[in-house]
Amino acid sequence: MKNIVILISGTGSNMAAIVRAARRENWEQRLQARVAAVISNRPQAGGLVHAQEQGIATEVVDHRSFGEREAFDQALAQAIDRHDPGGRPALVVLAGFMRVLTPGFVAHYEGRLVNIHPSLLPAFTGLHTHQRALDAGCRVAGATVHLVTAELDNGPILAQAAVPVLPGDTADSLASRVVTQEHRIYPAAIAALLRG
Ligand code: GRF
Repeated sequence: MKNIVILISGTGSNMAAIVRAARRENWEQRLQARVAAVISNRPQAGGLVHAQEQGIATEVVDHRSFGEREAFDQALAQAIDRHDPGGRPALVVLAGFMRVLTPGFVAHYEGRLVNIHPSLLPAFTGLHTHQRALDAGCRVAGATVHLVTAELDNGPILAQAAVPVLPGDTADSLASRVVTQEHRIYPAAIAALLRG
């Protein structure tokens, strides 16, 4: 069974969707991977509790304990790789992980590092994507699963989902419409990637 490691910073609803997919009753619908660990850079990330309740190993690598980005990324990579017997998890999944990663870290996981971003990339890289989509008058918004490369929110696109922007939408109402789609496309994109 292939091991995947999920990195979170907050609620972890995408992480929970991936865990659900890996535990589906129906073998044909099941994500063929084991969630070996959930690692957070924030000790208070709500998703850690959910992962523990699911019996998944959790770990905190607190970025505030490290002076330099490189030192944090090195400790993070060591923590990740320890969760695979061969020291090489099949995939490292960023799911609401709010740290920019160094080129060295990204190179170490080349082709094995995926992210979900709450916009239809290449539009709205970075933060506050939903408010920016509303301010720009967009009629559709969405989310993108992509391979991570050294440039922020800019790797090859693996999957996208679009949702309508509705009259009266706020950043919150739009975010909740988008995140529902994230929970659908992220496990599916991971499954496709693992199948090669
Ligand atoms: C999602 O909208 C994801 O696209 C973005 O951060 C949010 C994380 O939500 N990168 P959750 O922690 O998975 O609930």
